[in-house]
Amino acid sequence: MRKIVVAIDGFSGCGKSSTAKTVAKELGYTYIDSGAMYRAATLHFLNRMTVLTNPVEVEKSLDTLSIAFHPSEENGRQETFLNGLNVEEEIRSMRVSENVSEVSKIKEVRVELVAQQQKLGKKKGVVMDGRDIGTVVFPDAELKVFMTADLLIRAERRQKELLERGELVELDKIANNLKERDRIDSTRKESPLLKANDAVEIDTSFMDFEDQVNQIVELAKKKI
Ligand code: C5P
Repeated sequence: MRKIVVAIDGFSGCGKSSTAKTVAKELGYTYIDSGAMYRAATLHFLNRMTVLTNPVEVEKSLDTLSIAFHPSEENGRQETFLNGLNVEEEIRSMRVSENVSEVSKIKEVRVELVAQQQKLGKKKGVVMDGRDIGTVVFPDAELKVFMTADLLIRAERRQKELLERGELVELDKIANNLKERDRIDSTRKESPLLKANDAVEIDTSFMDFEDQVNQIVELAKKKI
C-alpha cells in the first residue's frame, strides 16, 4: 500500500492536533506537531531573552536550538524535547502562546523549522498539522485539510485543555490570544496561514471528535 502525506492546517485552537494525532494512529502513520516546534523555538528564545529584531541574536539562538520528539514512557504519547529537556508541558503555557506568533514570523526561524519538517516527512506516512503544511512544507501532499471553528467554541476547548494541565485562564484572555495569533499568522509576510486551493475545508464547530477523525481517515483511504 502506498504511503501518503496528510497535511492539516487551520486556525488556532480548532482541534487540529488532537484530530491529527488520532488520524495518524488510525492510519498507522507518524504524527508531527509542527506547532510544537514553533512553541519549543519560542521557549528557547524566551529563555535566552533573544531580541527578535536582532538578526545576529536570532541566528545564535537558532544555532543552539535542538528539537526532538520522543514517546512518553508513561503513556506512549509523543512529547517535545528542547535541547534534551522535556518541555511538553511548558510549551503549552500562556506565556509561550503569547509569544509564539511573533517568533514564527521570523524568516530564519521558518527556514530552519520547515527544513526539519520536510526531513521528518520525507518518507511519507505522516500526518502533520500546522499553518503552512499544505502550502509550503508539503505543497504536493496527497491530502490537505483546512480546519476552522467558531472562535468562542475554540476558546472554550482551549480553556478546558489548560485547566486539565492545571492552568486556570479567563475565557476572554484565551479568545483574545487565539484571535491575535490568527491575525498575526494570517497577515505575516513569510508563509501566512492560507487555505491551499486543493484543501478540503472542515468546520468543526458542531462536529464531534469522532466524526472529524472519521471524515479525514475516509478521505485519506481514498488516496492510498
Ligand atoms: O498549532 P499551535 O497552535 O500549537 O501553533 C502555535 C503557533 O505556532 C501558531 O499560532 C503559529 O504562530 C505557529 N505555527 C506556524 N506554522 C506552523 C505551525 C505553527 O507559524 N506550521
